[in-house]
Amino acid sequence: MLFTKRTHTCGALRASDVGNTVSLNGWLQVRRDLGGMIFIDLRDRYGVTQVVFSPQQNPELHKRAHELRSEYVLSVTGVVSLRPSGMGNAHLPTGEVEVQATALEILNASDVTPFEILDDVDANEDLRLKYRYLDLRRPVLQKNFLLRHRVTQVVHRHFDALGFLEIETPVLMKSTPEGARDYLVPSRVHPGRFYALPQSPQQYKQLLMVAGFDRYVQIVKCFRDEDLRADRQPEFTQIDVEMSFVQRDDIFQVIEGLIASILKEALGADLALPIPRVTYDEALERYGSDKPDTRFGMRFETLNEAVAGSEFKVFADVLSAGGIVTGMNVKGKAEFSRKQLDALTERAKQLGLGGLVWAKAAEGTLQSQAAKFMTPETMLGIRAALHAEDGDLLLIVAHADRRKALHALGTIRLELGRELGLAAAGDHQLLWVVDFPLFQRDEEGQRWVAEHHPFTGPNAGDLHLLDSDPGAVHADCYDLVWNGNEVGSGSIRIHDGDLQQKVFQLMGLGDEEIREKFGFLIDAFRYGAPPHGGVALGLDRIITILAGIHSIRDVIAFPKTNSALSLMDSAPSRVSDAQLTELHILLRGS
Ligand code: AMO
Repeated sequence: MLFTKRTHTCGALRASDVGNTVSLNGWLQVRRDLGGMIFIDLRDRYGVTQVVFSPQQNPELHKRAHELRSEYVLSVTGVVSLRPSGMGNAHLPTGEVEVQATALEILNASDVTPFEILDDVDANEDLRLKYRYLDLRRPVLQKNFLLRHRVTQVVHRHFDALGFLEIETPVLMKSTPEGARDYLVPSRVHPGRFYALPQSPQQYKQLLMVAGFDRYVQIVKCFRDEDLRADRQPEFTQIDVEMSFVQRDDIFQVIEGLIASILKEALGADLALPIPRVTYDEALERYGSDKPDTRFGMRFETLNEAVAGSEFKVFADVLSAGGIVTGMNVKGKAEFSRKQLDALTERAKQLGLGGLVWAKAAEGTLQSQAAKFMTPETMLGIRAALHAEDGDLLLIVAHADRRKALHALGTIRLELGRELGLAAAGDHQLLWVVDFPLFQRDEEGQRWVAEHHPFTGPNAGDLHLLDSDPGAVHADCYDLVWNGNEVGSGSIRIHDGDLQQKVFQLMGLGDEEIREKFGFLIDAFRYGAPPHGGVALGLDRIITILAGIHSIRDVIAFPKTNSALSLMDSAPSRVSDAQLTELHILLRGS
């Protein structure tokens, strides 16, 4: 098709271009007929420029401009002029000028779109996902992809400068248990066999270390069939890293440099390095979470000592059962109403606790629904432990199950933080959480499963506990947490075949199962595996945080819904009998 190609984008023209003849290509955002003149806003991904069709200057063209509708694709040629005084638009970079049209080509018409292409569009997400290509025309979304592009360029540059090699790993691989469910792909050539889509390239990157590549990085798609949420997609992208001959600090250094460069590039912000570290145990005890949002305080204090000897039954029972009494100080919020306090108590109950003890610091002591059960000394002890001053609100929970109490108060802390607006907009707080337990009990409490993944090395100092007390063994693993979001996870790996075999055994895997599932990895470790470790960062989550938005779907061009549907192309879809036959598949009950 022959057409007049653009000389400028729709975001380029300024007062300095006045008098020049230019051509623009783009989509019609809106047409306004005013006082005989027709104005259109022409949009492309660079911006919007106002074009004027005047009946006096070009009656023929003005007449044709009546045909123009939203989302028509146009080529417009004209002369740049200053907008009349008072008619400028300070919100638009091109707002000082307009183009007086001298020629118009309609490159394509458009049906009426199912929703208007506006930043604050009034259409539900399902409709927008069905017509995602229209949704993506909205500048507010396009901005996210520009950001994503810029961040991935930083990633390539950062790792290249440090001597990392980008190496691609297979998308069709062997199904190996890694935490989530696998997406499976049937083999046509090998009846009854399946490939799995990688939940992450974990084993491959370790094998690349055995192969001597030393420093590996890949921006890579991962696939997990798990329950979806605002920060989870069935296919998502990792910045996947592995290094040989390193310890944890070497990996932290590489990643901290990367995050600092990303923040600088994306937001012009300086990140204070090193990123602080807390142990998993401390994170749980202080924030009730293994991914604490450290943009605000309200750190917990364990009150077991302060309430020791208290006759208050709630505390006494929990203490004698070996549980925890813990609390936080909501600074200056003694003004909370009875209704607000009842709501907090109700929330604690929903979270599996018997309730919650609130106390207002006043007149040097505490006012509380539980005051009559506590001695003045106990109340003073609680005040002191929580650094309370008159006017503060103290929230205290107690439970025989430590984790349950801490998690519940952690949830309340987050919800209150949000409600009270405690996290400053634009604040970025990062944290390494280190020394997770190596194992946790599976859901039935029967077996040990890897807290991180089964290739994670135990802390050297805990090796002697592997046989006697596996639950007490800490792992040399770490999560990177950003404003309360887990944005990365990694570990120093096991590189010794015997130790790897032992960890599998502790997880209840039989020798045959180990051979069948991981034989290739154990074999590889017999041929000189270097000490190695790595990390994977969730790129989509990082972009979501940088963009200051809530949903990971807004930084993925073609995302799935929370029920893993692609509304645009209706995937997953049925396939023909012929395809199934070829794959040796007979569907049950259909
Ligand atoms: P992990 O499973 O913790 O570790 O994943 C690493 C990071 O990937 C992101 N992430 C997700 N993002 C969006 N949607 C999902 N469904 C999703 N699942 C995970 C998170 C997470 O921190 N192989 C190991 C890493 C390693 O040990 O090197 C792994 O995949 O931000």
